[in-house]
This record gives sequence, C-alpha cells and structure tokens, in this order.
Amino acid sequence: MSTTFSGTRELTPAAASYLSRPVDHCATLPWPFPDDLDAFRYSVNVDPARVPRPTQAGEWGRTIVDLGGAEYPAIMADRRRILDADPHRVKVRPGMELACWDLLLYYLRDLDRSYPELMHLTEHPDGQRFHWRNDLLGTDQELVLGDEKSLPCGPMEFLAREVPDDLLLVTERGGHLYFDAGAVTFAAAWSVSFDVGMDMYEIHGPVPRLTGEGITARAEQFLLRLPADEVYRRVNWTLSASGSRKLDVSLEELPEWGTDIPALVRDGDWGRLQLRIEVEHFIRLPMTGTVTFNIRTHMASLEEVRTVPVWARQLATVIEELPADIATYKGFADYRDPVVAWLRD
Ligand code: HEM
Repeated sequence: MSTTFSGTRELTPAAASYLSRPVDHCATLPWPFPDDLDAFRYSVNVDPARVPRPTQAGEWGRTIVDLGGAEYPAIMADRRRILDADPHRVKVRPGMELACWDLLLYYLRDLDRSYPELMHLTEHPDGQRFHWRNDLLGTDQELVLGDEKSLPCGPMEFLAREVPDDLLLVTERGGHLYFDAGAVTFAAAWSVSFDVGMDMYEIHGPVPRLTGEGITARAEQFLLRLPADEVYRRVNWTLSASGSRKLDVSLEELPEWGTDIPALVRDGDWGRLQLRIEVEHFIRLPMTGTVTFNIRTHMASLEEVRTVPVWARQLATVIEELPADIATYKGFADYRDPVVAWLRD
C-alpha cells in the first residue's frame, strides 16, 4: 500500500505501530442495524456520538474521527488526488469563512484529544496561533486563526486533506437549514457543486418517502435545536457495485463507475458487492453555531459480511423486505433477488 507520508522525518514508533495493525473491515464496521431489526425504514435515527458500540464482529464509534488504521494513508492519498484534480469538490458560500475556521479548530482539537500519540495541536496563549502536526501523514503546519494566508489552502480544504470524512456545513436562515459549505470527495451518487446552497427539503427531494412522511421536517427540527455541548451521529447504508473499495462514486465520476452495475450483474459475482455505510456526525460548532453533517464512509464486501453469519442473515432479510421505491432509490432493485440468495447460501 502506498503512503502519502510527505515529511523527510521517519515515522514515529507510535505512527509505525498504528499503521502496521492488520486490516479487518468487519471488526471496525459500523453495522447499521440493531440486533433485532428485520425491516428497515427511513427515520430520524440519531444517537449520542463518541459512545463505543459493540457489534457481532468488534466495535466502532469511540471517537468522532475514525482514521481507518493501516488504510488511512491510502484513503487520504485518494482524497488529495481528487482535490488536486477537481477544485469543484470544495464549495464555500460567501459568509462561511469563519465557520470553516470554526470547523478546522474543532476537529484539530478533537484529533489531538482522540489520538494523543499521533496528532498534536499546540495552542499559543494568544488564542490566535496554532501548530498542527499529524505524525501519520507528516503534516507540520503553523496556522493563524482567520488568516487564510497562513495555510496552503482554505481551512475547510486543509481539514479535508487531514481526515477521511466528507465535510458539510449547514446554517439557519428564516427558520430553515441551508447547505452552505462542503468539501466532499466520496459522495454516494450526488454532487456537492449541485447541492450546495439548497435547503433540507430541496436536498432530500429525490429520496422517496422522506419529506412526505415528515422525516425531513423532524430532521430539520432536530438540527435546529441541536445543543452546543452535545454531539450526535447517524448511520446510513446502501449497496455499491463498485469493487476495489472505490469511495468516489459521486455524480462527477459517473462516467468512471456507471458501468460497474451492469458488469457485476453480468458476472453474478455478488461477493464483490460492497455494503457501503455512512456515519454522519452532527456538531454545533462553538464559535459560529454552524452545524456539521460530516460523513465518514465505510465499506465491507458481501464476501466479508458473510463471514459473520448473523449479519449475512439480517442483511438478506432487510434487503428482501425493503419496499420497491427505497430499493430503487438505493440502486439495487434490479438485482436484489440473487443478492439475497447469495447471502443465504
Ligand atoms: C437528521 C438529519 C438527516 C436525516 C435523518 C437524513 C436522511 C437522509 C436519508 C434517509 C437519505 C437517503 C439515503 C439512502 O437511502 O441512501 C438522505 C440523503 C441525503 N442527505 Fe440527508 N438526512 C439528514 C440530514 C442531512 C443534512 C444536514 C444534509 C446536508 C447538507 C443531508 C444531505 C443529504 C444528501 C446530499 C443526500 C443524497 C440525496 C440525493 O440522492 O441526491 N442530509 N438523507
């Protein structure tokens, strides 16, 4: 696996040890269904964050940012390659600059606290100057709060180059929430350029049932009332026909992955299909009150899922029972029957 380690320094012993742990996608997978669930419907499924959640195969959710273990350098290389090639993956509407600094500072502090042996933020007593070091990627950056010239790029993009999460900020206007800034490279069949500036109802327009059943309104109310000192999270899932753990299935990349589904159906190679799970964090940022909707995408192939028989059985039941409109929106209505059979085999 290639790394993006850019410094001339050697990896620290703690960084080398972190990156050498064996990869086990199931052990850290945020399994999206409660144990007793056998029918999935959309809901405002939010829970307090930073709470470790045991699963049939391991645990997830102890920290806000899951760096991804040994895969972190490869994920970040992918992220940086996309950002270098396509500046339109970062959209910051006028007036959002301070919120982006708020986001950056919140996350750098959180990373320092969550990964004290790997990530370091030193704060100058003047409250304006900071020194950031990321031992896994070799980042070593002095920065001055609010001074874009102190960074190689904007603060939101700087953070996007340090963490595997897609970053989205929403602000309130006239009692509604608008998607006003984003740095997104791993969107599941949507586009940050297209969606930025929309409100919650416009964004969720393509999702069946959501607005009609009052879920968009309840989600918006939840976020409008989100307290400043509590962090929440939500899990979302779908299937992805793009093998090799391809994270970037955004609309921008459609020509690259549009043929993956027909190819998979032709081959009938269902073990290659990926269960794609998003963990989304809702945080009210302390300086500006802006709300985050940051998305960390995880994947496990159905081959891997089948190594945990309880999961394989539950996923088969959920996919089989899913109403046609939701299965169509999620993109697997046409091939769900053989997938269910394969999971039960
Ligand atoms: C508690 C809050 C929220 C809930 C319950 C919620 C729920 C959902 C659901 C159920 C979907 C369909 C996903 C699928 O089946 O794969 C969806 C899609 C999406 N959501 Fe949300 N959402 C919430 C907040 C937000 C916020 C704050 C943003 C934005 C900035 C956002 C942006 C999106 C986008 C971009 C999509 C994809 C839409 C498309 O296909 O074009 N969501 N959401």
